[in-house]
Amino acid sequence: MRILIFQTKEKAMDFVVEFLIKEITRKPEIVLGLASGHTFIPIYRILKSKVRRNKINLGKIKTFNLDEYLKVGYKESFRYFMDKKFFIPLKMKKEQIHFLQSNPKNVKAHCNNYEKEILEAGRIDIQLLGIGRDGHIGFNEPGSIIKSRTRRIKLNEITVKDNNAPSRWALTMGIDTILKAKKIVLIATGRRKAGIMKRFFDNKISPELPATLLKKRKDLIVVLDKDAASKLRIRKTFK
Ligand code: GLP
Repeated sequence: MRILIFQTKEKAMDFVVEFLIKEITRKPEIVLGLASGHTFIPIYRILKSKVRRNKINLGKIKTFNLDEYLKVGYKESFRYFMDKKFFIPLKMKKEQIHFLQSNPKNVKAHCNNYEKEILEAGRIDIQLLGIGRDGHIGFNEPGSIIKSRTRRIKLNEITVKDNNAPSRWALTMGIDTILKAKKIVLIATGRRKAGIMKRFFDNKISPELPATLLKKRKDLIVVLDKDAASKLRIRKTFK
């Protein structure tokens, strides 16, 4: 595991964006696994300005988002968040974007098809992940097993509250889906995440804290700012 702790949130975000740009430049047809949530707002903002400034071509990338609320209107959806923060400003074409639907006709078939689409795209090259205060990744709440795939899930009380969620139900890529990505980057910023990051490092691998299942991947990259790392014993690499 590579743990990178930055003095400020801005420096942490800048690192993630530079990492993404390097990988996109190396492989223009890269498959990105994207996340929504507050953590990603500055990342997508910095990415937008660097892509424009350096004229980076995103015309060949493919994206798969982690999760979506079930049965909500467009403006409450993660799709709306991503359209506004990433897809529209960066002029992404419809066929580049893959997203779980909020109102699929058949939930099971839709989830299975998402798994198929990921495989057909040649697997996710880089999966970006945030973390919920109950240890969820994507919307894999406590109890999510390592073999879980894309599916419907009921959100915890704390998740509904933290996210101001418009629905108690969501679709999410599973833990197995996430672990199949070629590279995984877990990102947490701010004091609100200090407690869960301490638990992430202290706890053994367990479905009760789904993020710990990521420790199966020895090449996991964890990016934190000083605040999110404030309860950790490891305080080495302040950048
Ligand atoms: C949400 C999303 C996750 C996100 C996490 C953290 O529930 N489903 O993908 O990483 O919670 O959100 P935030 O960045 O707003 O703290």
